[in-house]
Amino acid sequence: MTEILEIWGGHPLCGTVEIPSAKNSVLPLLAASVLCREKVCLEKIPQLSDVQVSLALLRELGVSARQSGNRVLIDAERDISSSLSTEMMRKMRASVLFLAPVLSRTGAVDASLPGGCKLGARPIDIHLDGLEKMGATIHWHEERLYLRAPHGLKGTEYTLRCPSVGATETLLMAAVCAKGTTVLHGTAREPEIMDLADFLNTCGGHITGAGSDTIRIEGVPSLLGGTYTPVPDRIVAATVACACAAAGGCITMHGVQAELFEPVLEVLEKAGCTVQRENESVTVERRQLLHGVGLVETGVYPGFPTDAAPLLAAALLQAEGESCIRDTIFPKRFACAEGFSAMGAQVQLEGPALHIYQGKAMHGARVRAQDLRGGAALAIAALGTAGKTEISDVFYMKRGYEDMKSLFRQLGVKVRTKKK
Ligand code: UD1
Repeated sequence: MTEILEIWGGHPLCGTVEIPSAKNSVLPLLAASVLCREKVCLEKIPQLSDVQVSLALLRELGVSARQSGNRVLIDAERDISSSLSTEMMRKMRASVLFLAPVLSRTGAVDASLPGGCKLGARPIDIHLDGLEKMGATIHWHEERLYLRAPHGLKGTEYTLRCPSVGATETLLMAAVCAKGTTVLHGTAREPEIMDLADFLNTCGGHITGAGSDTIRIEGVPSLLGGTYTPVPDRIVAATVACACAAAGGCITMHGVQAELFEPVLEVLEKAGCTVQRENESVTVERRQLLHGVGLVETGVYPGFPTDAAPLLAAALLQAEGESCIRDTIFPKRFACAEGFSAMGAQVQLEGPALHIYQGKAMHGARVRAQDLRGGAALAIAALGTAGKTEISDVFYMKRGYEDMKSLFRQLGVKVRTKKK
């Protein structure tokens, strides 16, 4: 049985929304809690299926982990197991983030390759190479991965082959309780990396330089616990902003700083939206026709975020003039193009680039989500299109959006879910 989201689009959006903590920050923080010998409390945590998977992975390890409303409580004081089931590992890409903290805490970890959205090949070679340089041995047997460091991980100087977000997080978590000093070069600079370093420091770690391309970590024997509120979700904020651009209207987002998703706001301004930036809120307004913006290329932070590429594409379907969005991070970012075409949009995929041409008026259609952000992009396209659109396989969106139906209702949209 699949859940279907029905959206009656073509009407301006109006209202205010609160931006929750970032999924991409919450997931590494949950994995990092394995390192903490005292209780951890995370605040403003959205109820997402990926969060549930992380909590289930923690419980597999013997850690007490539960979500109560928007608060998550974790207690990893007792000894933990070092084995993660293939079934849970395959449920999401971020399960790879458990390897380093479990290895660091217990000297061993048995797991399998992670699953996740099919955006093209997503190797974990940098994660494993870095752990090996810190003294881990790696062994594969029948698709299971066995990492060992019985005498603990050792600090090292390591340069990442490319600024992978996940690999930077893995190596931060490996180094924080390693023996001696680790210096990581070529690290990712995303706000979620700074958040992980801040969290680890709150719990007693000694990390400097997060947010730059060189991070220095002085290993400490163990971490304590603490209470922490992760950074706001810049991709949820980009989703709301692109929805406003697609449908028109005016939306104020509270609890988010414009600097977190400035590249998205700048392209929307170029397309004809008005953006008002305050300390802790951002207002996006679109009262006139959108214009095409030419070429937009994604890049590592502070570049245009890959996760927002399909969201922006969905908004630009409504523009006069042409646009092209090229994703430099993942080769298959635009699976949503199939749904856009079914709705009458004139789009063309060329490798990792999506060309958007001005075409005939779009219409509602039956479409299928094929990944998390692509599913959200179909919802944005539906909001900008008159008539009813049905989006199936809504479970993809539940990985990163707490409750899309309520979010859109709050903005005045007629929307419904049904099971089929
Ligand atoms: C994280 C985000 C994801 C976002 C991506 C890029 C989480 C949970 N997910 O994913 O939403 O789209 O950053 O901003 O935070 N690579 C390798 N070898 C590795 C690791 C990565 O070749 O060992 C490549 C990947 O295939 C990809 C690129 O590096 O082409 C960037 O991937 P990475 O930054 O690692 O993305 P994730 O951490 O998986």
